[in-house]
Amino acid sequence: MVVSTFLALVLAGFAAAKTCTNFTIPVDISSRQGVFRKVPLDVNLDASAFMLEFTNIGQNYTAVLLQDYQTLKGSYKISAKFCHPDGGIKGSVVQVLTHGIGFDKTYWDLSFNNYNYSYVEVAVREGYSTLAIDRLGIGNSSHGDPFNVIQARAEVEALNVITTKLRNGQIPEIKHSFDKVVHVGHSFGSVQSYWLSSLYPNNTDGLILTGWSANGSWLPATIAGFNLHIARLNQPLRLGNTLSQAARRTFRPWSSGGELIRGVQFLLRSIKVSLSTKDIWNELGTTEVANLITGYNQTDIPLNYPPGYLTWSDFTANVGAFLLPGHYDIALGLVAESTKQPVTAGELLTIGSSPPSSSFSGPVLVVTGRQDTIFCGGDCLATGTDAASIPAEAAVLFPDASAFEAYIHPDTAHGINVHYNASAAYEVIQSWLGAHDLGA
Ligand SMILES: *[C@@H]1O[C@H](CO)[C@@H](O)[C@H](O)[C@H]1NC(C)=O
Ligand SMILES: *[C@@H]1O[C@H](CO)[C@@H](O)[C@H](O)[C@H]1NC(C)=O
Ligand SMILES: *[C@@H]1O[C@H](CO)[C@@H](O)[C@H](O)[C@H]1NC(C)=O
Ligand SMILES: *[C@@H]1O[C@H](CO)[C@@H](O)[C@H](O)[C@H]1NC(C)=O
Ligand SMILES: *[C@@H]1O[C@H](CO)[C@@H](O)[C@H](O)[C@H]1NC(C)=O
Ligand SMILES: *[C@@H]1O[C@H](CO)[C@@H](O)[C@H](O)[C@H]1NC(C)=O
Ligand SMILES: *[C@@H]1O[C@H](CO)[C@@H](O)[C@H](O)[C@H]1NC(C)=O
Ligand SMILES: *[C@@H]1O[C@H](CO)[C@@H](O)[C@H](O)[C@H]1NC(C)=O
Repeated sequence: MVVSTFLALVLAGFAAAKTCTNFTIPVDISSRQGVFRKVPLDVNLDASAFMLEFTNIGQNYTAVLLQDYQTLKGSYKISAKFCHPDGGIKGSVVQVLTHGIGFDKTYWDLSFNNYNYSYVEVAVREGYSTLAIDRLGIGNSSHGDPFNVIQARAEVEALNVITTKLRNGQIPEIKHSFDKVVHVGHSFGSVQSYWLSSLYPNNTDGLILTGWSANGSWLPATIAGFNLHIARLNQPLRLGNTLSQAARRTFRPWSSGGELIRGVQFLLRSIKVSLSTKDIWNELGTTEVANLITGYNQTDIPLNYPPGYLTWSDFTANVGAFLLPGHYDIALGLVAESTKQPVTAGELLTIGSSPPSSSFSGPVLVVTGRQDTIFCGGDCLATGTDAASIPAEAAVLFPDASAFEAYIHPDTAHGINVHYNASAAYEVIQSWLGAHDLGA
């Protein structure tokens, strides 16, 4: 009995293994979007000024900067990671995974703790194929003008082109056409998945909107809490282009948290100050000092984002927006901070411009952490009405949906996958898909 249970576990372990490939998908898009007056976003004080204008209750900064509309046409590259069960693609359903602000496609397949926090592991174990993309403008996808190219709508159009290619078998590295495409988003990636379902309701078969609600009340507080800085100045070695050997040598002894702390201890001892490693970590590891050294070892080719790409200041700002203290591993939180991705001014100015409703007629599941600050103000159940939850109030956006459900995941804030219980949320999603005719 014990032996057969063991064997079953071993076999299940093998069945769970996944095969993945990375590649780039060319997309031609046409996007109807805003033309904004550009304001300076070169140095950190410009970012503070932008934040103050953006959060000012006396104005709508999007309207203030909007000069015109244009149809942006362009050819771009989308960086993608495709995974399927070992042994080949099963079934006819693919999940397209779109990350939120501050992340890239690695959000869905974190290697931390032997992939224990990986959404892709869970989905592939259930037999699904997944395609995770870097949104247009971010990570290894094409970068672009942070005001007038990299806006929400352009990213939605890119997502739509990729979806059509998946259906038509037009991605050579995949060599397969899928009958059904489920769009899974996190945060801004959910906004875009919803937006796609509104513009192209026939191009999606199911929506999984994680870290999302239809209530934008807390966006200004979020942006204020970010303490916005210029991305290329915040992590010059990684998000910027500080390639000079001299600069790299300067940072070299500080290239990991441990060395940073030991180095500072050494310097302090030379002036006869003795601080514990814990004290030094608390002084530096959670501040922008850690961002300044981040990237020394991670990338030989810095991402070199232009001015106008922004990021939050440091790990403490990250915690404020994304994490629930006591319910995540600080080591994983620090990984998220040191591998974070930026947000463009154009994205912030258009994040609230999604269509008011969607005529999508398939099933919709919202999965949001109970303590999400960005989409629920810290408590998704504090509706003040008889609505079951703040995410549940989004049902009105989907009058034609065949099913709508809002699942509130306990002990979890906005950055769902960084929390201890992330994989339980992922399992809820796979079984819900199975129950709504979208099984692998
Ligand atoms: C895909 O790219 C990621 C990030 O660079 C890397 O860690 C991973 O090994 C690559 N996977 C494959 C199958 O090439
Ligand atoms: C702000 O202005 C933009 C552009 O005119 C508009 O699309 C958006 O709906 C406005 N937002 C609010 C909350 O009024
Ligand atoms: C993965 O998480 C489970 C529970 O969520 C835990 O029992 C297990 O030890 C973790 N594995 C690793 C490698 O961290
Ligand atoms: C992006 O591309 C660089 C250079 O090819 C590579 O080192 C890095 O791992 C890639 N990252 C992702 C997330 O694809
Ligand atoms: C979407 O599909 C429905 C049902 O098949 C069809 O009636 C409708 O015309 C389609 N709409 C578009 C825009 O293709
Ligand atoms: C960091 O870079 C240095 C110098 O290239 C190298 O010796 C070291 O092994 C790297 N550390 C890690 C953790 O990659
Ligand atoms: C957002 O949720 C809060 C708290 O439940 C509520 O007071 C407010 O009216 C909601 N706003 C919108 C636009 O739904
Ligand atoms: C983890 O999530 C599952 C699924 O939502 C839930 O039933 C369980 O209570 C959670 N566990 C903890 C420790 O929060």
